[in-house]
Amino acid sequence: MSRSAHPAGPRHADVLTEGHYSAPAADLNVLDEKVWSRTVTRDADGALTVGGIGVARLAEEFGTPAYFLDESDFRARCRAWSEAFGPDADVFYAGKAFLSRAVVRWLQEEGLHLDVCSGGELTTALDAGMSAERIAFHGNNKTVAEIERAVEAGVGRIVLDSFQEIVRVAHIARSRGVRQRVQIRVTVGVEAHTHEFIATAHEDQKFGIALADGQAAEAVRRALGLDSLELIGIHSHIGSQIFDMAGFEVSARRVVQLLAEVRDEHGVELPEIDLGGGLGIAYTSDDDPREPHEIAKALSDIVTRECESAGLRTPRISVEPGRAIVGPTAFTLYEVGTIKPLEGLRTYVSVDGGMSDNIRTALYDAEYSVALVSRTSDAEPMLVRVVGKHCESGDIVVKDAFLPADLAPGDLIAVPATGAYCRSMASNYNHALRPPVVAVRDGEARVIVRRETEEDLLRLDVG
Ligand code: LLP
Repeated sequence: MSRSAHPAGPRHADVLTEGHYSAPAADLNVLDEKVWSRTVTRDADGALTVGGIGVARLAEEFGTPAYFLDESDFRARCRAWSEAFGPDADVFYAGKAFLSRAVVRWLQEEGLHLDVCSGGELTTALDAGMSAERIAFHGNNKTVAEIERAVEAGVGRIVLDSFQEIVRVAHIARSRGVRQRVQIRVTVGVEAHTHEFIATAHEDQKFGIALADGQAAEAVRRALGLDSLELIGIHSHIGSQIFDMAGFEVSARRVVQLLAEVRDEHGVELPEIDLGGGLGIAYTSDDDPREPHEIAKALSDIVTRECESAGLRTPRISVEPGRAIVGPTAFTLYEVGTIKPLEGLRTYVSVDGGMSDNIRTALYDAEYSVALVSRTSDAEPMLVRVVGKHCESGDIVVKDAFLPADLAPGDLIAVPATGAYCRSMASNYNHALRPPVVAVRDGEARVIVRRETEEDLLRLDVG
């Protein structure tokens, strides 16, 4: 494709008074390390490299669009989380963010546990050799068949989400002569400061059993009364992409209060609490995420303090980060296609993917960054909207960003921080073929989830 300069779109100066985008970075060629995975850098020619491999080679070998996952960064983040929480806590990676058999093996090697929330995730975990006792099984509507498989596999815990499920799991465990370890998921009534669709601790939603009105205490009463259940603790997940630790602190305090009530009523000190996942990551330079050691310290301090004042032994803490581990470790590589400048507004840059590989912008108004990565450019910044090739105008990948004004069809651009909830929420809309996930490490790249093919599409369409 032509690399000639495209007729420049509107310059940022024309439109800076409108919209809610940040001003362009002083130098668009500089990659902000906050949003890119750790081994990303530019080579001498200005092209982005990850794990020592340049994007031109990656695009040629694996095609675009594609997700490139920085394996050593993923492993380093796993280690940072488990070291931050130490031997008296457990880190469960939330597989819904992104799961594949390679990821399961990395988790095992790095000593993490795994949270699964469907039969499909459970199968992937077991197939890749995850030990069942390191698996937690979640979900607000687990099917009987899923519960049966989880119990038969011997998962380390099932997180009970409703009164009906307490009975269902107890019955299935009893019929198999098993005493199933369980936690009860409670909603603590915290309004997490995040998008409505990913906030989960307020009461008016489908997950968990409310602490309010003694509902959770009643659930504990019932679970303790069933021999086939071993109630090991209480679980609370307040939502996702949260930066403010205050919500976690309130949640921890309320869960410890419930432990104290349980001790007073039943003479039992439940040994574990799980504070869920939800820690935010940097999608743009404006985001300032906390480091795992700060999070671990804040959570363990509050639990220890609350337990001391309630006269409880400090329970074992577990957490379930998904996004905070995998999110920053991958970027999506796209090839630029049609460029449509709109005088006085912005320039629409179409890429070869879109809402089928990243639905988060359309669904949650999520913000992303973007950079020209096949080369550097000294052209001035132009305000762009990066859009996909799908048949709807909400098909936006990056709503407002700046790219060099000499951007041309055939250039490669990349959107960082797409490791979480992009491939796992990808769709076949418009019969798009879901992109591959390529793991890159120490100069080697290998496909861990292959690109979908038209044969895959036709195989499901049985006529
Ligand atoms: N634990 C439980 C019980 C959860 O429901 C979730 C996420 C996590 C842990 C992991 O949360 P994380 O650390 O990844 O934020 N699709 C949305 C996110 C939905 C999260 C659902 N539950 C998004 O793209 O932002």
